[in-house]
Amino acid sequence: MIPMLSKNSVSMRDPKRVEQILTSMRNAGPSTLQVISDFDMTLTRFAHNGKRCPTSHNILDNSKLISEDCKAKLKNLLDTYYPIEIDSTRSVEEKLPLMVEWWTKAHELLVQQKISKDHLALAVRESEAMLRDGYQQFFDHLHQISVPLLIFSAGIGDVLEEVIRQAGVFHPNVKVFSNYMDFDESGVLQAFKGELIHIYNKREGALLNTEHFKELQSRYNVLLLGDSLGDLNMADGVMNLQNVLKIGYLNDKVDERRESYLKSYDIILEKDETMDVPNAILFYITG
Ligand code: TMP
Ligand code: MG
Repeated sequence: MIPMLSKNSVSMRDPKRVEQILTSMRNAGPSTLQVISDFDMTLTRFAHNGKRCPTSHNILDNSKLISEDCKAKLKNLLDTYYPIEIDSTRSVEEKLPLMVEWWTKAHELLVQQKISKDHLALAVRESEAMLRDGYQQFFDHLHQISVPLLIFSAGIGDVLEEVIRQAGVFHPNVKVFSNYMDFDESGVLQAFKGELIHIYNKREGALLNTEHFKELQSRYNVLLLGDSLGDLNMADGVMNLQNVLKIGYLNDKVDERRESYLKSYDIILEKDETMDVPNAILFYITG
């Protein structure tokens, strides 16, 4: 099929089915394709040289824009709630209210910090955020063949846009659904806009954006990239959906979560810090 799918990091529940979807997508061609991807820990690296890379929230948490006292509180939240996020012994129903609690508390703390819009770019520049190896090829290829890329993130929209802008890949085919900051007239963060997006309401988020999906009606084949089981619902707003190929990065607690990821993603990538597989698939589908 695609040589890259023999890579060590790749597992598939049903390789035959993957092959069928890929063939069908390739036959239908690039004009019928859209890509929907999560951001944190999907387009960005989970770790580099053994050290964890920041999420879009962490870029702010670790920056000079946040007081030491607030940093400690945010770290406390991360240490409390991240283990719950990745706990495979708890159900989504059990985790959902706790995730809402995490996002709400974190956003409240950020709002208290009087963050200035003008300082975001520097915070990103000074951060250790890294897109996965091969990101340039991924973004540039999609742009060249005019395939829309929707980045659907429970992170912070203003921050993640800056990450892709600084990497030189915020092309016009990229659209972002995320949590956006609301600044007052002097450019200071006063709230977050609109409905909160957390890791378990991406389905609701998608359904709020029917206009976007209406414009893409003829793009009934979807390549979906995520790293959380909450990301599986990102294509729920797509109209006339025919094929969806779901690729999941399994970054952490690999042994405990392998079974559940294999059940729900078509292809899983274990501790794979690259875009090699998504890129190989894109090139296969679009020639
Ligand atoms: P994603 O949907 O773009 O992956 O963003 C969600 C990630 O953000 C999720 O893995 C948890 C992480 N997160 C933080 O790192 N710090 C925070 O304060 C919050 C609320 C979430
Ligand atoms: Mg993620």
